[in-house]
Amino acid sequence: MKNSTKIKEIKERQLITTIGMKGNKKVLTVLNSLLADELTAINQYMVHSEMCDNWGYLKLHMAIRKQAMDEMHHAEWLIERIIFFDGSPTVSKLNNIRIGKTVAEMISNDNDYELGAVQSYNDAIKLAQEVSDQGTVDLLTMILKMEEVHIEWAESQGEQIKQMGMENYLVNQTEVPVK
Ligand SMILES: [Fe+2]
Ligand SMILES: [Fe+2]
Repeated sequence: MKNSTKIKEIKERQLITTIGMKGNKKVLTVLNSLLADELTAINQYMVHSEMCDNWGYLKLHMAIRKQAMDEMHHAEWLIERIIFFDGSPTVSKLNNIRIGKTVAEMISNDNDYELGAVQSYNDAIKLAQEVSDQGTVDLLTMILKMEEVHIEWAESQGEQIKQMGMENYLVNQTEVPVK
């Protein structure tokens, strides 16, 4: 038998054994709860991003839009994992959405949400470790690291506002970012 045919056969066998893999109930519940968090963040950030665009703060618009896109990837990966485990992804549930009325409020509300996300991902990783679900640990760790970058961004915005004052900070946000 040719080597390539053999590899194909092995892959097909693996597929058959992984299809229908049942996930741990607790892990599935937590994955769906994380999904609700991500879907909430997408909505909150998209509104903030468009408000910034409307005010002409294009740099801020692009930065928040990029974060909304990151959260979309997270939601997509969580849905993929839930389906892999034969679970049903709940995409109709949203948590409380906190829209800021000012740029300061937006950054603060988004940062609060990110801090909550980091806590939730750390808790979920612990649970996945307890049930020896390394695939979920790896996925959640990858997402957690991206959430930490989001927090870093929000903290640096807070520091810039403190150092240069809100008016100067906002003047900087009107520039169109260089691609
Ligand atoms: Fe996320
Ligand atoms: Fe995030």
